[in-house]
Amino acid sequence: MDRGLPIKGSTGVRHRFHSICPYFAMFPEAFVEKHLSVTSHKGFVFDPFCGRGTTVFQALLQSRKAAGCDVNPVAACISGAKCDPPGLHDIRVRLTELQKAFTEPDDGDWGGALGEFFEHCFHPETLLQVRYLRCVLDHKHRKDDRFIAALCLGSLHGESHKSPNYFSNRMPRTISTKPEYSVQWWWREDCVAPRRNVFEILERMLAYRFQTHPPEKTGCVAEADARDATTAFPELKGCVTDVITSPPYLDTTNYHEDQWLRLWFLGGAPIVQYSGHDDRHTSKINYWKFLQECWEGIGPLLADQARLVVRIGSRRLGKAEIKNELLRSLLSGLGREVRLADPGVTSDIANTQANSFRGTKGTPFTEHDFCFAV
Ligand SMILES: C[S@@+](CC[C@H](N)C(=O)[O-])C[C@H]1O[C@@H](n2cnc3c(N)ncnc32)[C@H](O)[C@@H]1O
Repeated sequence: MDRGLPIKGSTGVRHRFHSICPYFAMFPEAFVEKHLSVTSHKGFVFDPFCGRGTTVFQALLQSRKAAGCDVNPVAACISGAKCDPPGLHDIRVRLTELQKAFTEPDDGDWGGALGEFFEHCFHPETLLQVRYLRCVLDHKHRKDDRFIAALCLGSLHGESHKSPNYFSNRMPRTISTKPEYSVQWWWREDCVAPRRNVFEILERMLAYRFQTHPPEKTGCVAEADARDATTAFPELKGCVTDVITSPPYLDTTNYHEDQWLRLWFLGGAPIVQYSGHDDRHTSKINYWKFLQECWEGIGPLLADQARLVVRIGSRRLGKAEIKNELLRSLLSGLGREVRLADPGVTSDIANTQANSFRGTKGTPFTEHDFCFAV
């Protein structure tokens, strides 16, 4: 059997699972690698806002036990697929079975009428395949389907004029743009949805992702609110020695808006409600209260001695304010002695690809990293 490339470590090849699907506001695996290489702890590594699973997956690569949660179903699907994948053979068998079932005559319309956006976003034949997979993949209960769904999420939209591996008309790969805006933009730029064979793309991406072996250890990812982390992981009480995380940032749009197309693929509605902002993430007072509740939620999971690395980005909060409020929220939320273990690192973040698609140039974010000892 061709076992592909080894996992990163012996050769320095980046593990192919890391980038299975782009994710907004993710941190690089080097950030996790660096922090895990300096800790002397050996217990569980945990990320209560795990996003695309960078912390959990990198910890597994470094032979640590790891788990995480995220409220976003897209994050839970991607992270779960990476951190507890089925074997390559099993996924291939399932993909063949799905493809066979699709090519057999079927009069299903795979989920009713969709709006104008979908007609322009996907070629009609591609859309039929996408809709079929959306209906049949049981990503919540089957590991093979979850892995295939994660591959679909990674290819659902992106720069299809540059790569044959995206299903959609030209879009950013990180976020789903607003439907009306997208239709106008495609019309103005004369962009037509390419005819793509979803099954061929999935086979190609599957082979690529398994060029590096999955790590020997598997991790557990739950679709859960950080405030309910202890309920989601009762077996981890007192076992977590390292938290490496990045909570949602103040003043960022919520994930429903940013990822509405991927959420649709996972069974959500084919429309997006732009409801304004989540108050917890626009009011400073509510933001810190929210974080305090999240620390309360993970508190019982922490071992007697633990290390917490927190990255927070903002356009509006200064370093001193973040440091003080973070420490205060940790002290109140955990109800234990917490001390700052290093003075914190600050870096500027360049404008994102999403901003350039929208034609806006936002003020760059500044990110601050703090390490605490509990
Ligand atoms: C800055 S991102 C973290 C990205 C992650 N570090 C990565 O590399 O992909 C913040 C994450 O928090 C999640 N989130 C927001 N509110 C949450 C909550 N109440 N509980 C758990 N996760 C939440 C968002 O869905 C998002 O994935």
